[in-house]
Amino acid sequence: MAQLRAFESARTAGRSVPEIVCYEKQDDWGGQWNFSWRTGIDKYGETVHSSMYRNLWSNGPKEALEFAEYTFDEHFGRPISSYPPRAVLWDYINGRAEKSNVKKYVQFSTVVRWVQFDEGTQKFTVTIENLKTGQTESSEFDKVVVGSGHFSFPNVPDFAGIETFPGTLIHAHDFRGAERLAGRNVLLIGASYSAEDIGIQAFKMGASSVTMSYRTAPMGYDWPEGIQERPLVQRFEGSTAHFADGTERQFDAVILCTGYLHHYPFLPSDLALSSPNNLYPKSLYRGVVSEANNNLFYLGAQDQWFTFNMFDAQAWYVRDVILGDAKLPSEAEQKLDMAQWTQRLANLGSAADEVRFQADYIRDLIEQTDYPMFDLDEVTRIFLAWKNDKQHNILNYRDQVYRSVMTGTMACEHHTPWLRELDDSLERYLSQPEEDELERMVRGKDSSASPA
Ligand SMILES: Cc1cc2nc3c(=O)[nH]c(=O)nc-3n(C[C@H](O)[C@H](O)[C@H](O)COP(=O)(O)OP(=O)(O)OC[C@H]3O[C@@H](n4cnc5c(N)ncnc54)[C@H](O)[C@@H]3O)c2cc1C
Ligand SMILES: NC(=O)c1ccc[n+]([C@@H]2O[C@H](COP(=O)([O-])OP(=O)(O)OC[C@H]3O[C@@H](n4cnc5c(N)ncnc54)[C@H](OP(=O)(O)O)[C@@H]3O)[C@@H](O)[C@H]2O)c1
Repeated sequence: MAQLRAFESARTAGRSVPEIVCYEKQDDWGGQWNFSWRTGIDKYGETVHSSMYRNLWSNGPKEALEFAEYTFDEHFGRPISSYPPRAVLWDYINGRAEKSNVKKYVQFSTVVRWVQFDEGTQKFTVTIENLKTGQTESSEFDKVVVGSGHFSFPNVPDFAGIETFPGTLIHAHDFRGAERLAGRNVLLIGASYSAEDIGIQAFKMGASSVTMSYRTAPMGYDWPEGIQERPLVQRFEGSTAHFADGTERQFDAVILCTGYLHHYPFLPSDLALSSPNNLYPKSLYRGVVSEANNNLFYLGAQDQWFTFNMFDAQAWYVRDVILGDAKLPSEAEQKLDMAQWTQRLANLGSAADEVRFQADYIRDLIEQTDYPMFDLDEVTRIFLAWKNDKQHNILNYRDQVYRSVMTGTMACEHHTPWLRELDDSLERYLSQPEEDELERMVRGKDSSASPA
């Protein structure tokens, strides 16, 4: 969506842009944010890519992801809170793309099956399948931009005895909502955003206990009673997990929050990016141009502090490379540039170092293009304040508010504290309810009895 918008912005500025086709395997756009009950397997039997869950809310302040040229103020016409639920973020990215009228370039329900580069013609042959008709066809392209994301192929490690676990056992990719975890003892393996968020979702929805098991280091938040961290599971014996510190506990459900793999089944191995999930995958010049083939580009392949506005910076730069406005340096200069970033990456220590690294990366990209520069230092401060909020209280950090670096607008508090908010819909979010939803559910709509 960022790439289409980037080209459209050049077109409206009077530039001539090449013919563009965008293939999207789902029947709507929005990627991870396009959630429906079909998330998992779609009506054509095709895997649906998203790892979203119904009650997901942004886990970073929206002020850190805001587009520089389509603000939340422009979209919603009034201040909203800093941590919107997924339907609200989908509405925002959809609104921008709709406004720029780029849907006409997208062939929905069309999955890219294979991409082949011909050294002779210097063209890519892209083979697609139209899921509605079942027809496959191939077309030639001069440039290919890969925007298929990298949080959809789960990393599923093995644990001794896990096959004897009799309860619910899934990867975070297949987690769709925490309601069914009410009253259950839940084990999450992993110590990053999925473990943290699914853990507090389970707590919110009434899990009896939540245990998170870390490999490298605990998250170390001041967890409320009912949530705890343990070192890595060594083995399972039926419903009992044995941890590295010699403790053991019984569980009803295990969720592997062990991250995702870069996987591009439609690309031959010489073109497919292979990398751990990090801030500067090797072999991408300026984080987007494939070293193996400078006519192939990747968007959003990095691990992400910044998201939507970083994708924009990348898309604007890729556009300018494709239009010939940004000249690619020689192979040796590209290698040197990548080596410098990779070296810096290797020396990063703290979270603050990481955010500054990604901010500098984005600054470097925007300086090459006409994307509006924004105050990346202020966004860095917002990220660090967010980290601080989480340390202070992991259960209510989403109730905090931040000021937009794009418009100066201060976010407003959501009408209901996140921990009590059970309805994640756009309608509910934008409404001004007079009563507390949770109280109403406990009391029954017309009862005046006190909540239990
Ligand atoms: C569970 C989860 C929660 C997240 N929460 C946040 C958050 O709160 N805030 C935030 O800023 N970021 C969050 N992110 C980060 C997220 O990665 C980005 O916000 C964003 O969605 C990435 O966009 P993308 O376009 O790179 O990839 P995706 O959103 O993954 O979109 C890729 C698209 O490519 C399509 N596709 C894939 N393969 C093919 C194919 N072969 N042919 C045709 N189409 C194909 C898919 O159908 C999909 O529409 C979250 C990620 C996950 C997994
Ligand atoms: N909006 C939200 O609330 C929300 C919720 C969920 C996810 N997300 C997003 O989704 C993306 C992915 O997050 P993620 O947490 O799924 O992945 P991630 O950040 O890549 O973290 C993967 C975790 O799995 C652990 N791990 C990997 N292999 C393991 C093994 N063999 N044994 C034990 N632990 C192992 C890692 O531990 P080590 O540290 O030891 O490597 C790490 O803690 C992020 O962009 C995040 O922001 C957002």
